[in-house]
Amino acid sequence: MRRSTTRAAVAAEVGAARSAGRRIALVPTMGYLHEGHLSLVDRARALADYVVVSVFVNPLQFGPTEDLARYPRDLERDVALLDARGADLLFAPSVEEMYPGGDPAVQVVPVRLADRLCGAARPGHFTGVLTVVAKLFGIVRPDVAIFGQKDFQQAVLIRRMVRDLDMPVEIDVAPIVRDPDGMALSSRNVYLSADERSRALVLSRALFAAADAFGAGTSDASLLLRRVRDMVAAEPGVALEYAELVEPDSLEPVDSARPGDVLVIAARVGRARLIDNVILC
Ligand code: PAJ
Repeated sequence: MRRSTTRAAVAAEVGAARSAGRRIALVPTMGYLHEGHLSLVDRARALADYVVVSVFVNPLQFGPTEDLARYPRDLERDVALLDARGADLLFAPSVEEMYPGGDPAVQVVPVRLADRLCGAARPGHFTGVLTVVAKLFGIVRPDVAIFGQKDFQQAVLIRRMVRDLDMPVEIDVAPIVRDPDGMALSSRNVYLSADERSRALVLSRALFAAADAFGAGTSDASLLLRRVRDMVAAEPGVALEYAELVEPDSLEPVDSARPGDVLVIAARVGRARLIDNVILC
């Protein structure tokens, strides 16, 4: 795997691959990689023949009281994992390289879809995400970019950005990778003690219980959400931020669930803010 830390070097590397007729995939990440990220690399390899992975902890998407300074980082470990997984190019820029003049004067501000769910608790977060993703698209100019369903609202907003701003890139969204007990993999899981981790399991259990209830014929959203909220409330140390049942494109709450609707949840457990979701089927 080749490594680049500058935008110019990435543009040159990818430009050579493109001239050689290769289809380019991009997997944007903030590093501290786990199997969830690596599943996106596998998917990229299946969809393209030159795979670029970015590792950049993007300050623009962290609020002033959030975990930017302590966000976990281990670039050498990430390099080894990506190399073993067959990525072609790693782009790991510094903050100065990505934002040479400080915060960009022009940013990508979503005017809808970002005021709810995670956006309600994290003002400005999705502006930071969309701005860095738009920059990465401009630098790499991928044919396809792969994101995880784990960050459901993020994936919805990126699809909308590409559609609404006519960006010439396909967006692929990959399923959530979980530990065998159901816990969604996340770089932030390292913040959890063993006790907190076992408490945090209630999030996926509650989502699965509600999804099972839907499968068994309950479509009333208030009943499904009561089930989720009651299970979470019964677990000490897990502070629910939101649990909603939403339509997958508009993110509007639904009263009566249909296949394809999404149960989304966010909660604080110890120092970690955790999110998860399940698509009803
Ligand atoms: P990060 O949290 O590092 O996640 C990078 C990508 O991995 C995202 O598309 C995310 O949805 C996906 N991912 C995380 N956990 C996953 C899991 N358990 N299964 C499958 N995919 C998973 O999301 C970001 O970084 C940033 O906001 C970014 C898009 C890179 C912009 O800075």
